[in-house]
Order: sequence, then structure tokens, then C-alpha cells
Amino acid sequence: MMFARRCFVFSLAVAAFLSSPAAAAADDTIKVGVVVEMSGPFAPYGHQITNGMRAYMKAHGEKAGGKKIELVVKDTTGPAPDLARRVAQELVMRDHVQFLAGFGLTPNAMAVASVATEARVPMIVMNAATSAITAKSPYVVRVSFTLPQVTAPIAEWAAKNKIKKVYTLVSDYAPGLDAEATFKKVFAANGGEVVGALRVPLKNPEFAPFVQRIKDAKPEAVFIFTPAGETAVAFMKAFSERGLDKAGIKLIATGDVTDDDVIDAMGAAALGVITTHHYSAAHKSPENDAFKQAYAAVTGAGARPNFMAVGGWDGMHLIYEVANKLGGKIEGDKAVAAAKGMTIQSPRGAILIDPATRDVVQDIYVRKVQKVDGKYFNVEFDKVAKVKDPGKS
Ligand code: PHB
Repeated sequence: MMFARRCFVFSLAVAAFLSSPAAAAADDTIKVGVVVEMSGPFAPYGHQITNGMRAYMKAHGEKAGGKKIELVVKDTTGPAPDLARRVAQELVMRDHVQFLAGFGLTPNAMAVASVATEARVPMIVMNAATSAITAKSPYVVRVSFTLPQVTAPIAEWAAKNKIKKVYTLVSDYAPGLDAEATFKKVFAANGGEVVGALRVPLKNPEFAPFVQRIKDAKPEAVFIFTPAGETAVAFMKAFSERGLDKAGIKLIATGDVTDDDVIDAMGAAALGVITTHHYSAAHKSPENDAFKQAYAAVTGAGARPNFMAVGGWDGMHLIYEVANKLGGKIEGDKAVAAAKGMTIQSPRGAILIDPATRDVVQDIYVRKVQKVDGKYFNVEFDKVAKVKDPGKS
């Protein structure tokens, strides 16, 4: 009820804003409102995304469509849908941004989708990966990935590599449920069986008892999805402390778990883990070399960009292309139309914005954690070409 009223008040304000001359008056700047996690346990998400965006701007100049591009960054402090919604409304109403962008975490992206719809502002999702986000608003365009898109290839890989009985463990929120459901379906279709499924809290899970249960069930492998970062490090620690590796239980996952930002902190415990994902810092291409160089120019040498930084870079690339196509005059509907069907040469390989779904189509890589020149990396050894979210093909 409260929520409905708040939406209604916001709708009135948006209607007034859209018809006001101030909104129509074009100036020399295109403002991008960035809604990201800049503090709290998920702070690396916001820093990776904004550094990726800034790296793109540094490498390509701060103008597109003849206008200056300006970022206005707002912190959601973590998974905080109400706050995300409020800052997005402020960005639209007060800062008059022409794009909303960022979104590390699904709950924040879900909460902002209706703001994008009401204000008719394109919303560029640079990480959040629950399949349904793009269906929440016709103004959402996603450049990152979806959990079903990166999970289906690992389920196929496992079944083809003689793994038949798997236990799954996922974080108990939308992307985790997407991963769990996709793994089960695709693995079964390829002759495998999920023998048990656990869901752990998104925040500060205590992994030891969960991991012990999996060990006692003696599956051939465990498939896991947790959001990148601290949680994944905690899981890896519990997995090796409880001796699952020594008990012969293999670990397979989406690449979120062995994310480039934390893989060195996991160290030897992660060696040999097979994952599927859309980006590895070890990807070999001239575009990736240029990206890593530009990223280092923003952060200083030594910081490794991860898949979220690539999302920030590619999202900015898309915004530049759209601004150029529209000659700097950004209208929400025209901007989304311009983005549909666009192909972008990303540091991960070419990506396409599917005109039917506004979701990303891309190659997904099969990788193995290895030590290269004294550091841990996800080394790609196979790929599945042009993968769509399996629920959207
Ligand atoms: C999400 O909340 O959508 C999310 C966050 C981190 C990931 C993947 C998905 O690594």
C-alpha cells in the first residue's frame, strides 16, 4: 500500500518533470547516473564497475555525440533495494541524468527498473545477472551476463566429463535460484543427477556445516554459485579445511566463485577448479590488453580488473555508441532502440545486444584455475560460442 502510494507520487513528479522545459532543454553534457555498491562488504563491485567506466572514458576521451560525458555516482551500500530506488529517483529528478547505469547486485537492479520505466530513462545493467531483470522494464539493456547463460555450459561440461552425481549449493537469492534451476535442468537433460541442493544466506553464511553435509553425501562433485567476493573466499576456505578435495569431491562453479578480484586470496585451494564464465583477465586478445592497460591507468598498476570492470567498460562503450548514433540528443525510447542489435568488441570477445530481449549474447569460456607467473588465473581452454540465456532463445 505504502509502496503503491510512493510509486504514484513519483509518477506525478515524473510526469511534471517530463513536461517541464528544464527537462527538454539540452545542454552540453550527458549525465550518467551510476547506482552501485561503493561501501560495505560488496564495495569491490562498485569500485570495479566505476573504474571500468572511468578507464573507458580515459581511453576514448570524455566526449560522445558532441557532448561531455559526466558520471554521477551513488552508493547503495550493499543489497538495499529501497535505498537504490531512492537514489535512482534523485538521479532522475534532481540531477536530470539521461542514463541510469551500474547495478552490481540483483535486488538493486530490480528495485530501480520501475524508476527507469516511469522516467523513460535507459538503464544499463553492468553486472546484476538474474535472468528476469530485463523483463522488469523495457528500458533495461544488459551488457554483463545472466546466471542461466553461464550455468548451462558448466552443467553440460560436467555431464560430458563423466561427472554424474552432483550436489548444488547456491546463495539464497534470485541469481542463486537461477543457477540452481538451470544446473539441475541442463545436467539432467545430459544424463546427470543432482543428489542434493543447499541454499545459504546471501550475507555472511557460515559454510562449515553445509560443506560437511555435502561431504557426508559423497557426491562426485559440488556445483556452487555465490556472488563474487568475500563469500566465495569463505566457501573455498571451508571446502579445503573440511577436506572435500582430499575426499575426491570435485568443485565446479560459475566464474563468480573464482573471480579475478579474489582468486589470489584463495590461493592453492582454488587450483584446478573448473568454471564457466564470460570474462577472465587471462583472456588473450588485443582488446583485453588495451582494457587492462587503461584500467591500470585509472587504478595504478597491480589492481586486476574482473568481469564487473568489463561490464563497466562495455556499458560505457554502449553509452558512447548510442550518444554518437543520436547526435548527443538522448531520448529514452530512441536510446533503447539504438542499443538493440548493437555489437560491441569487448575485452571478452564480441557481444551482441539481442534486439528481442535487450539481453547480452556472448561466448562463454570453460576455464581452469592455474598458476601463471606466480599468480592464480582462470585459464580458458574451451568455449561455447554465442550463448543466449537458455530461457530466452
Ligand atoms: C547479482 O546480484 O546479480 C550478482 C552479483 C554478483 C555476481 C553475480 C550476480 O557475481
